[in-house]
Amino acid sequence: MSLTNAPDPEIRKQVVKQDLENVLHPIVQHRALEQSQMVITGGQGSTITDADGSTYLDAMAGLWCVNIGYGRTELAQVAAEQMQQIAYYPHTAMNLPAAQLGEMLNAQMGGGYHTYFVNSGSEANEAGFKIARQYVKHEYPNDFRFKTISRYYAYHGTTLATLAAGGMGDRKGKFEPYAGEFVHVPAPTCYRCPLGLEYPTCGVACAKAIETTILGEGPQTVAEVIVEPIMSGVGVAVPPPEYHPMVEAICRKYDVLLHVDEVINGFGRTGKMFGHQHYGISPDIMAVAKGIVSAYLPIAATMVKNRVFESFLGEVAEERQVMQVNTYGGHPVAAAVAVRNIEIMLEERLPQRAAEMGDYLMNGLRETLMKHGICGDVRGKGLLIGIELVTDRASKTQLPGALVGGVVAFCRAAGVIVGRSGGGARHSNTIVLSPPLVITRSECDTLIEVLDKALAMTVAKMAGNG
Ligand SMILES: Cc1ncc(COP(=O)(O)O)c(C=O)c1O
Repeated sequence: MSLTNAPDPEIRKQVVKQDLENVLHPIVQHRALEQSQMVITGGQGSTITDADGSTYLDAMAGLWCVNIGYGRTELAQVAAEQMQQIAYYPHTAMNLPAAQLGEMLNAQMGGGYHTYFVNSGSEANEAGFKIARQYVKHEYPNDFRFKTISRYYAYHGTTLATLAAGGMGDRKGKFEPYAGEFVHVPAPTCYRCPLGLEYPTCGVACAKAIETTILGEGPQTVAEVIVEPIMSGVGVAVPPPEYHPMVEAICRKYDVLLHVDEVINGFGRTGKMFGHQHYGISPDIMAVAKGIVSAYLPIAATMVKNRVFESFLGEVAEERQVMQVNTYGGHPVAAAVAVRNIEIMLEERLPQRAAEMGDYLMNGLRETLMKHGICGDVRGKGLLIGIELVTDRASKTQLPGALVGGVVAFCRAAGVIVGRSGGGARHSNTIVLSPPLVITRSECDTLIEVLDKALAMTVAKMAGNG
């Protein structure tokens, strides 16, 4: 069997058979895969190609990650050159691409950070939890600080600790129980405020709840607070502008570390290099993944502010080093590709482009989709967008799951891949968009047109005419 981009029904059939007989897939139901599969063999820009010849506008950039778009063959060249030079040696030693990448990441933060390399967003957050715990052991030897405060409906990864930190019951439920070191607070999901309040009269009570929780738990037991600047998975929850500065002030007041999850928000997605830069806050710990390498290879990182890093310095006998190692951390090939990926982002001004194209797309979506009574809300920043679907705008009742699924399926049949939020019955009624940052205006127009038809189809179905 050869690698090819040309449609080949025979090879496709063979792949499907081989796969169904041998592979266990993440999250999708195998019964569904038996009915319908995608076998992706190629991609260019924002478009992917199936082995059957179909093409799709990928308005999800894979899993919110192919920020510079598909088909950048120069990254393959960078990988090949690095592999010929030195493919691997553990990061207990140094290597050129990882050092370069560390410097680049630090520059994007305006200096003041050191970077610890891992392989996925989950590991980046997990390493963040561990670094926070080790840090507070060094700095507060008389306290017992170990808790992380996180938000309901958050998603921070798929390992046990990141799931425990997350707040999505539907993702967590099957793996319970979890140890009790993650304490949850209400999320700033303003369209469906968990406190039943409305901005701005709410006084951003969800941020204040963090202080109440720290005091309730006892500040001497709390190591950190973890936040995603704009919560992606729950349907793109853009917080009020004061939210993050308030959270940061609370962290500073109680000497609690601020851990920011930039796994999706980072690398231009929201119109700035990092999502937290919209809010003027300064993370102590920051997880980055996905867009760091636009998913061309697996690499991710946990960045720590120098005040945290310095806690890991000391005389050799003090043993203050980070007490963990990942075999593939700082992988030279992945790091070399990440360096070139970020260079491309800067050369092509992709964060700025995301801001501009995001405005264009969001305005078009609002203008077109709000005509349908089932479009409750269109929100987002840059090219991170949520379209919340309701039975009617006045009651805000969630559109039933089957109908939301029908919108996703309609779009796919029309050649457009859109996503759907998680968060159980309360929050899984939002269509989410996170296209490559190179998406063009005409592709945005296609996206709007197809979603318009999908919503019209849904309205007709609800009226019994579909
Ligand atoms: C906000 C956030 N954090 C962490 C993760 C975990 O990243 P990974 O799947 O690379 O482990 C994800 C994955 O989608 C995410 O959305």
